[in-house]
Amino acid sequence: MKTTFSIIKADVGGWPGHAWVHPDLKEVANIKLRDAQASGLIKDYHVTNCGDDLELIMTHTNGIDAKEIHSMCWDTFCEATEKAEELGLYGAGQDLLVDAFSGNIKGMGPGVAEMEFTERKAEPIIAFMMDKTEPGAFNFPIYKIFADPFNTAGLVIDPSIHDGFVFEVWDIQEHKNVMMKTPEEMYDLLALIGAKSRFVIKRVFPKKSSKLNSDEPAAVISTEKLYQIAGEYVGKDDPVAAVRGQSGLPAVGEILEGFSIGHLVSGWMRGSHNGPLMPVAVRDAKCTRFDGPPRVIALGFQLKNGKLTEPVDMFDDPAFDSTRREAQHITDYMRRHGPFEPHRLPMADMEYTTLPKVMKKLGTRFKKVQ
Ligand code: F6R
Ligand code: MG
Ligand code: MG
Repeated sequence: MKTTFSIIKADVGGWPGHAWVHPDLKEVANIKLRDAQASGLIKDYHVTNCGDDLELIMTHTNGIDAKEIHSMCWDTFCEATEKAEELGLYGAGQDLLVDAFSGNIKGMGPGVAEMEFTERKAEPIIAFMMDKTEPGAFNFPIYKIFADPFNTAGLVIDPSIHDGFVFEVWDIQEHKNVMMKTPEEMYDLLALIGAKSRFVIKRVFPKKSSKLNSDEPAAVISTEKLYQIAGEYVGKDDPVAAVRGQSGLPAVGEILEGFSIGHLVSGWMRGSHNGPLMPVAVRDAKCTRFDGPPRVIALGFQLKNGKLTEPVDMFDDPAFDSTRREAQHITDYMRRHGPFEPHRLPMADMEYTTLPKVMKKLGTRFKKVQ
């Protein structure tokens, strides 16, 4: 029997502004998931939030893209939206882009990261959740975790992962995907995923030579692009990911090490600025300064017969203090650039712009340069 691990998330209202999720919304979600567990639809669950995003972490045996799971999550977000409206929260229902559920929650606004796999004797799994950034923000750490020997010692010294991994990369503009092997195609892979607003890592698989099943993912990332779905900007995608670890996969510490730089990501204020990604404890994932800086939280579970242990708040650790200090320092430095690139995103990637209006206003005042 295989287990499905699903993270399905949406911003259905912020408190205040786009800073945080109100506890009443989490209570709505907890009640819905408790009922879903009692009815046998899901095996286990945990509700959390990263900034203004409400996250439903679930285990079940229905496989990925299961209509009954997606429909239950859609109903949960709708009920949480009603609560957000009642409380007068900001942007109630922001990520619910359509009126009625149509069979699969993908493309309807919420973000989805799901994988189905055969549980090992002991199955460590980490759920990562980000706020104020885009799916491509995962490219850097996922690459480091599964392909960089300076991050993951096991790639060099553990025979069970020495052969490397297979990356599934999506071109989110052209809606195409490609499978690429590391270390063989490392440079070609980097040529794509360095362009993180277009090429995003969707999944990572063990190789055929691995003792693990090469059809079952080791990692999965949500790759929905809200503004592409809606045709206009309606909020950042704020991605989530699930990563399995140990015995034949990177160790938990190698997985977390991928987030130790506070790398630069796009998003932050008005989805239009570059800034450092700060790894924080769940309680600290409040996007305050300039609506940020962008945050990532990590919850670690052991999984057994579909049952989850209590989560461990992995970045709630002084070992990440220096990353946070560095991110604060970078925040100060980037902010001093105000409206200038590369703090402000290049024009094509901005989600708010007044440029067409400014150009129209200046009109004929623009003269040809001789
Ligand atoms: C970025 C984000 C916020 C908002 C900003 C303006 O992802 O959620 O930075 O873009 O607070 O929000 P509105 O346009 O709703 O006033
Ligand atoms: Mg919001
Ligand atoms: Mg958000």
